[in-house]
Amino acid sequence: MCGIVGYIGDEQAAPILIDGLEKLKYRGYDSAGVCTNDGEKFIVEKEKGKIEVLRKSTGDGKKISGTVGIGHTRWATHGEPSKINAHPHLSRSGSFAVVHNGIIENYMELKSELSQNGVKFTSATDTEVVSQLLEYYYSGNLLDTVIKIMPMLKGSYALGIMYRENPDEIIAVRKGSPLIIGIGENENYLASDVPAILDKTRNIYRLAANEIAVIRRDSITVYDTDKNVVEKSVETIEWSMDAAAKDGYEHFMLKEIMEQPKAVHNTIAERIKDGKVVLDEIHLTPEQIRNFDKINIVACGSAYHVGVVAKYIFEKILRKPVEVDVASEFKYRNPIIDEKTLTIVISQSGETADTKEAMYEAQRKGSYAIAIVNVIGSAIATDANDVIYTLAGPEIAVATTKAYSAQLAVIYLMAIYFGDILGKISEEDYKNYVSELLALPEKIKLILKKTEDIKNIASKLFARKDVFFIGRNIDYALSLEGSLKLKEISYIHSEAYGAGELKHGTISLIEKGTLVIALATYEDLHEKICSNIEEVQSRGAYVLGIGCENRQHLSHAADSTIFIPKTCDIMLPSLAVVPMQILAYYMARFKGCEIDTPRNLAKSVTVE
Ligand code: AGP
Repeated sequence: MCGIVGYIGDEQAAPILIDGLEKLKYRGYDSAGVCTNDGEKFIVEKEKGKIEVLRKSTGDGKKISGTVGIGHTRWATHGEPSKINAHPHLSRSGSFAVVHNGIIENYMELKSELSQNGVKFTSATDTEVVSQLLEYYYSGNLLDTVIKIMPMLKGSYALGIMYRENPDEIIAVRKGSPLIIGIGENENYLASDVPAILDKTRNIYRLAANEIAVIRRDSITVYDTDKNVVEKSVETIEWSMDAAAKDGYEHFMLKEIMEQPKAVHNTIAERIKDGKVVLDEIHLTPEQIRNFDKINIVACGSAYHVGVVAKYIFEKILRKPVEVDVASEFKYRNPIIDEKTLTIVISQSGETADTKEAMYEAQRKGSYAIAIVNVIGSAIATDANDVIYTLAGPEIAVATTKAYSAQLAVIYLMAIYFGDILGKISEEDYKNYVSELLALPEKIKLILKKTEDIKNIASKLFARKDVFFIGRNIDYALSLEGSLKLKEISYIHSEAYGAGELKHGTISLIEKGTLVIALATYEDLHEKICSNIEEVQSRGAYVLGIGCENRQHLSHAADSTIFIPKTCDIMLPSLAVVPMQILAYYMARFKGCEIDTPRNLAKSVTVE
């Protein structure tokens, strides 16, 4: 996600800002920029690409005067990565400069209202509406104006703001995204995260939601939205730099597992309005959707596993045939597709060569390709006929977690949206699906609260050599992901198997002590999975069951059990995947594995 840095003091600000941004690069970004105030004017330098480009264009910041400034590294969510979309963003007269982390969910409405009042926008970002609103509503006092516009901004955000005519203050605002104030000696700092300023000060104020800080060289005053002064206690950071980059978590993977409620929320929030799924970002027309006679899904690895889950969901709701292929096979099997086939391409990075090539093959055969991608402006996102972005934020750990969950969320949105257009969803089911989708982030949080229990289970299982994940229907689709998560970070061999298929051969591998993880969330086949559990137990297996809390008897059938909250069948994978991610993480950790960068693996496989 984006990174914010601010400085006010007696030193040249730009070098400090750029050094601070450098220390936030682990957050993932695609452009960077700074704005300083030299007492008379703003000086703005922004560059697409890595911070080295900004360093080169500014002489490491030394070419830019001014002892107060704000800087930003942008992870694109609205508007492709570019110099013009990079932050800071100025208002139309150039009087207000803003850096932003998060999402302004209602930016289109705000932009349209301002445009109707003659405001000209220069970028495609949601952020620019903030600088334009500040100028539009400026009352002569910056703090009052900030407090005035905050209720207009829907969504989760952190802001750094400067007003050209007042070079002696920076205003910081936190609604959802984190923001800290670094306390110096006759100088003060602003940052999204501790690493940016840890070499300058270890004493910070951590802003809480809906707090506004007025930061000057010699004072920091924090207010609430009623302009009451908020007394803040100083927090002294004891972390090392490396730990701070992970927000205190030992690995990015655990941090990203914990970020899943927000990743799912951000992905669905602006696509559900007044109870209706809104996919305005796609050009696909209802006519085209009605004309498709089948769906092909192509992807790799975990993204492919999302596709297998999607097959069960689309076929259940849309009653259209769905084929799912690993992209590396799809391209070379001369697939039977044409303009009546909708191809769905799933990729976190948007750069996976196998997936990209498979998409081109589908397009060559006349198929319409809609991509589900996490990285804005990536190759697959750019070359697809349509793209729906997952708003999971940058995913650093090689083993995907929050992007997988955000991709599932997009699948649910598509299933509801397409199902409605095809007349396959009753009004009651529509309402139920939307309600369950909106409830997912909170239900994921409930499971995350079980982390210590799951860690304890992992402590007893991490020495196993072979693990089988079994399930039926959508649980089988999900077992594929559980198996890959475990394999890729713990190096423990595992297989995912349809529970009903085990008896046709592989059950010969089950012996005393074999670990079997049985996914037993899918209601309609619950009795069947329970008999599969008995099947493997009678051959000596140790069974860890994952089931819904309304099926407590599972704790008698399995040797140990992890329960998840109930939800509608199609959304069970979003909940059941979380215990498996946590289990894999701790089994790998107890084994002393690397976890974030597993051997032989890359975060994005850009070769075929
Ligand atoms: C998932 O944990 C793996 N890192 C890998 O299977 C990954 O899902 C696959 O390489 C596809 O990557 P993409 O989503 O960026 O296309």
